[in-house]
Amino acid sequence: MKLNLIEEKVQTELEIILIKDKEITENKDILEKIDFKGEEDSSALLAELGKLYVGCGEPTSDNIRVAVASAMRTFGKTNFNDASIEADENLREVVEGIELGSYEFTKYKSKKDDKIEKTINIVVKKVDEKTIEIFEDAVNLSNSVNMVRDFVNTTPEDFYPKIMAKKAKKIAIENDLEIKIFGEKYFKEQKMGAMSAVGRASRHDSRLIHMAYKPVDAIKKVVLVGKGLTYDSGGLSLKPADFMVTMKSDKSGGSAVLGIINAVAKMKLPIEIHAIVGAVENMIGGDAYKPDDVLTAKNGKTIEVRNTDAEGRLVLADCLCYAQDEIEDFDYMIDYATLTGACVVGVGHYTTGIMGNNLELNNQLQQSAIASGELATVLHFNKYLKKTLKSKIADICNISNTRYGGAITAGMFLDEFIEEENKQKWVHCDIAGPAFVEEVWGCNPEGASGAGVRFTIEFLKNLMEK
Ligand code: BES
Ligand code: ZN
Ligand code: ZN
Repeated sequence: MKLNLIEEKVQTELEIILIKDKEITENKDILEKIDFKGEEDSSALLAELGKLYVGCGEPTSDNIRVAVASAMRTFGKTNFNDASIEADENLREVVEGIELGSYEFTKYKSKKDDKIEKTINIVVKKVDEKTIEIFEDAVNLSNSVNMVRDFVNTTPEDFYPKIMAKKAKKIAIENDLEIKIFGEKYFKEQKMGAMSAVGRASRHDSRLIHMAYKPVDAIKKVVLVGKGLTYDSGGLSLKPADFMVTMKSDKSGGSAVLGIINAVAKMKLPIEIHAIVGAVENMIGGDAYKPDDVLTAKNGKTIEVRNTDAEGRLVLADCLCYAQDEIEDFDYMIDYATLTGACVVGVGHYTTGIMGNNLELNNQLQQSAIASGELATVLHFNKYLKKTLKSKIADICNISNTRYGGAITAGMFLDEFIEEENKQKWVHCDIAGPAFVEEVWGCNPEGASGAGVRFTIEFLKNLMEK
């Protein structure tokens, strides 16, 4: 999609008109005949007139974004080559709706559409410095989300730890970021026994990726840590067939972290960002780690493995230790992971579960999510659930002894690897639900959504205002 930002309306084949609060002002008769009332989630294409009406209900930020995204899906299916839309006060939402709504993943289709690239003219009152900045920020953010979607949608045969590191390198070169990539030898030296065990049975060696964006005018320092399971078969505690499908999406946390640092660098935000990704494939084989093993994490804590499918927390444990050992004086540390099915059961597949010891910080992230058009809710730790992680033979067990509250117990497992001085700086985001949904929803396509990127950018932007 080609986007033009203009002041004067130009003639285009199609005009997209958002109907706010069901207020239809033109072509009333014909729209009435086809029973179009301008309600939320409804649209009417009057092809002969070159008009596409889209209902958005109450014109909230998110409703506008979603309505524009749905207009893009309709526009995409037609043979109209160009369209126009008015943006005024909602330029950001309109641009995001266009870019996020027109995303398609066609890598594996043998017959690609040979349609020419379509153009959208966005009409605003004035094309000044401010509007250009809003426009460019929205484009950079949306492109980063779409990049994450591409990563996550790519199959495990084409996207394994080494490829994830290669993608990170490309982002680093493009944005002039620092990057370090570590392999098995480093894990051994650093005694990262948890992460190392998870990847052992895979034919693809694991990677720990550490990228840094260090602007000279940085006002805050934020560490992002992502679960990058390029495939999660469950390991020897093998997943049932139906549950294994879509597990290419278990790299969504790590991919989000790559998308966030890319967006921050492109938007030139004055915040130092460290992006850490544990890229690992969880497989079966003679060399696989086993239920009954006891692993030692980087901080010396021992972990009794009772289920090899609770692998994400093992990878994150070592990555969180790495971050705290290697990065000094950070203000916040946020991790992203498709960590538990329990989180999806608990809050539904559209919502991120936010956890941590700092309630105010948790709430801030939740607010950022709502403002950005993502959904998130806070889940609270408690001392009773914490006890369910006790092990008889090691310091802690990798699964809880109860089948209830699985998202929270996973979060509290991670908490064991957060040093006392960082307890209030850390937040855990379980994106197992929204990261990958097999249906179109909001401005998300079927498949990967890029969850986490938009709400984190919102959170970071808010830090600048404090
Ligand atoms: N990657 C899965 C969690 C998941 C489930 C993500 C569904 C997305 C959709 C994770 O590694 C896992 O398998 N967790 C187990 C933990 C259990 C063994 C304690 C789970 O949720 O069943
Ligand atoms: Zn698993
Ligand atoms: Zn997993």
